[in-house]
Amino acid sequence: MKIFVSRRIPGEALNKLFGSANEVYVSEFDRTLTPEEFLEGAKGCDAVLSLLSDKIDGEVVDAIGPQLKIVSNYAVGFDNIKVDELTERGVIVTNTPSDEVNESVAEHAWALMLALARRVVEADESTKRGAYRGWEPGIFLGTNMFGKTLGIVGMGRIGEMTARRAKGFGMKVLYNKRTPDPKVESELGVEFAELERLYVESDFISLHVPLTDETRHMINKDAFAKMKRGVILVNTARGSVVDEGDLVDALRAGIVGGAGLDVFDNEPNINPELIAMENVILTPHIASATWEARNKMGLQSVDAILDVLNGKKPENIVNEIVWERRRI
Ligand code: DGY
Repeated sequence: MKIFVSRRIPGEALNKLFGSANEVYVSEFDRTLTPEEFLEGAKGCDAVLSLLSDKIDGEVVDAIGPQLKIVSNYAVGFDNIKVDELTERGVIVTNTPSDEVNESVAEHAWALMLALARRVVEADESTKRGAYRGWEPGIFLGTNMFGKTLGIVGMGRIGEMTARRAKGFGMKVLYNKRTPDPKVESELGVEFAELERLYVESDFISLHVPLTDETRHMINKDAFAKMKRGVILVNTARGSVVDEGDLVDALRAGIVGGAGLDVFDNEPNINPELIAMENVILTPHIASATWEARNKMGLQSVDAILDVLNGKKPENIVNEIVWERRRI
């Protein structure tokens, strides 16, 4: 059978595909494909290994052809795929959640929080520029994390892993999710809070919700208006959860004291006003970029394809119903 991989991925996973009895085509371009290039590669294939930068809907699937059985998304998030439209067409969608990825994203959220709290990037830039004149009592004053309140918006596995680390820093943790989770509360010593309270009381806010119609731009001027002055906001989830224009206004007004953004509303484009701000740290969507996480993501996405092509149920099906009424 034919498999299309839209971009070469790090780690061992692709060797497993090459070693299988399938025809494997890996995009020759080491960049995000245009929709035309993606289709050209995927047309006629039974399986596609896609990245979060590939937009896949019913029309794309129709153009690939009726033989398509699985789109294996090399990401935890799958907001790049119109899952309902693929479900209608009987195409399985899988993603790649794992402890390795979750820990990696949680660690990155902490890297951003710590770097903002202690102004690491500004201080590094200044020191390398030759501005260090010896110890001074008042340069780059930051804020302790100890004793502060961390608000976790979205308490899935990544939110939990982010919350767990707060214990070591002596922080109080408030969390919000659709339904309170007593198990997580007793395991991690965290407290459920309605969003309003979480915004009012948190000194640090870390976002861990998936992008849905409900969460798109949920962090907007109304949310900022409730936040504690000087709050540090970190987003390793999806850029469109935050209204970037409103964030710029909140940073200018001092409501947000610092922002750490790994994801952006219109990737790869970044609001130039954010780029210009010293109290904003930007990283290029690398929260899951550890060898451990990316290798695991690769293996999971390859295994999902091989499983489906061999008639076996893959792990991490997003649209389970398709498997139940499968046609192969
Ligand atoms: C994901 O997995 O959804 C990350 O955003 C990219 O690795």
